[in-house]
Amino acid sequence: MSVAKKEYKRVTTKSLVEMKSNGEKISMLTAYDYTMAKIVDSAGIDVILVGDSASNVMAGHETTLPITLDQMIYHASSVIRAVERSLVVVDLPFGSYQSDPKEALRSSIRIMKESGGHAVKLEGGKEIKESIKRILNAGIPVMGHLGLTPQSIYKFGTYTVRAKEEEEAEKLIEDALMLERVGCFAVVLEKVPAKLAKKVAESISIPVIGIGAGGGVDGQVLVTHDMLGMTHEFNPRFLRRYLDLYADMTNAFKQYNDDVKSKDFPNQSEQY
Ligand code: KIV
Repeated sequence: MSVAKKEYKRVTTKSLVEMKSNGEKISMLTAYDYTMAKIVDSAGIDVILVGDSASNVMAGHETTLPITLDQMIYHASSVIRAVERSLVVVDLPFGSYQSDPKEALRSSIRIMKESGGHAVKLEGGKEIKESIKRILNAGIPVMGHLGLTPQSIYKFGTYTVRAKEEEEAEKLIEDALMLERVGCFAVVLEKVPAKLAKKVAESISIPVIGIGAGGGVDGQVLVTHDMLGMTHEFNPRFLRRYLDLYADMTNAFKQYNDDVKSKDFPNQSEQY
């Protein structure tokens, strides 16, 4: 049974703001390929994030830093071909927007033109304000990302909870207000104390989508491969696993291996 307060044929940036004002929570999951995106979209998930977590999940890198703009465009265009309803947000990868606003705009235009994505997401606050304004001025919707920003992992040194100290919490609130003021349509808040995240969500009119940020925000995002239990070496407290696909897939592959070796597969009805 659907618990949506209003049916949306296509989710837009405006729908998300409307959901927040109607008190309807927003669902967001990652996808990096056509097949997964088709399932996520048809399940009614509001937003699909083509995250730079593809660098970890799809390519096996330790961090999100190595993924390139060309690779993000490849993933995003595969997702776009599958989607009928969800809003598709595409991460600008590390190195494609940090140096100056012109580069940030050029990278965003490439994403919109070459993948057909609906919006871009950038990590950071006031240090990238001019880049965000430049992208927005070109008519490209922007989602912000504050708190734990994995592209800065070598600056932080760890993936632990951010903004536990007052100074960092205050900066985070200022950054969220700035993102709203310049015209972002939503903000991701990653791994921050639930109380702070709730305060941010109550302070701004645009939706706050949390990951490890508690239930007081306007929506939730998880990495699909993690919530399906396909990855099993990553066990943060905030992760709810809905399946144990690592075990189920391993069993299926073992069964197939046995069936081939024992000549059980293919049988009479599985051949021409
Ligand atoms: O890349 C990603 O998957 C993300 C989410 C964790 C929010 O940015």
